[in-house]
Amino acid sequence: MPRRHILRAQQFDMELLKTIFRRADQFAIWNEVPWMKETVRERCRGRVQVSLFYQPSTRTRISFGIAAHRLGIHVEPTENAREFSSAIKGESLEDTIRVLNAYEVDLIVLRHYEEGAAQRAAAVSSCPIINAGDGPGQHPTQALLDLYTIRQSHFEIDGITVVIGGDLTRGRTARSLAYLLSKYKDVRIIFVAPPELRMGSDVLDHLKEHGIAFAEHDVLEDVAPDADVVYWTRTQTEHPLDGIDDNALQARYCIDEHIIDIMKSDAIVMHPLPRNSEISTAIDGNLRAVYFRQAGNGVPVRMAAIEWTLGLL
Ligand code: NCD
Repeated sequence: MPRRHILRAQQFDMELLKTIFRRADQFAIWNEVPWMKETVRERCRGRVQVSLFYQPSTRTRISFGIAAHRLGIHVEPTENAREFSSAIKGESLEDTIRVLNAYEVDLIVLRHYEEGAAQRAAAVSSCPIINAGDGPGQHPTQALLDLYTIRQSHFEIDGITVVIGGDLTRGRTARSLAYLLSKYKDVRIIFVAPPELRMGSDVLDHLKEHGIAFAEHDVLEDVAPDADVVYWTRTQTEHPLDGIDDNALQARYCIDEHIIDIMKSDAIVMHPLPRNSEISTAIDGNLRAVYFRQAGNGVPVRMAAIEWTLGLL
């Protein structure tokens, strides 16, 4: 069987998406199906997952760790690989992957500060690589859990209108989500960002090629009433861009009670988290603010994704 890496959102086809989501549905009710635990853990016994994180992470690292733990997989974590691994001694990513391969690990979950790092790792790896974020590139498992969350609320993804907004130049979750949405029929995407932080032309070209209708706007208020989903992201202040005042931008792009009021009654607000001030805490209690449930979906979806990479799904 060829190695099953997860590197970018474009790689998934509809059949695989359905398989992963159905499996995640089972894992979401894990505690109610005790017999399933034993079967699943029996198949994973003795396997080892290395979490190799060269960039900060809370949700992705911990949810991948919990997902592996629930499957009965041992996790070996390096949470600040940039400083605490041999990278500081000048070891290349490729060599680190070769060493982990020599230890016969079963899976490497990699977060790296450079776009394309996961592809580089996969090119030399004898075990599957999961891209857990490669700089401003992509974050495909986040897109899986984002789509899973949309599916929970709207049931059908075909035909929905999704507003994706915030920092679309540096935000990898928005990019992966747009790629994944392009698999569905009659989806409409409205990108909302200041002109300085628009969505990259690679994503827009992909949408054109796949016949996905999209538009670009500066002001959320104008398009919020049309949305079935508002997917909001923070300004990526840790990657400064020349001539951009991140704080001023952030202040202009805030979802608050007024925005919720003008949205459709069944529309949802999503965010990959962490948030700063771009989503007011005043809306946290609103049933349509689903970002904490969205984060929770990271565990069952990543359990399914891990099983797939290991050839168990
Ligand atoms: C995102 C990331 O790392 O790209 N976080 C996450 O994994 N949920 C979003 C972000 O950092 O803004």
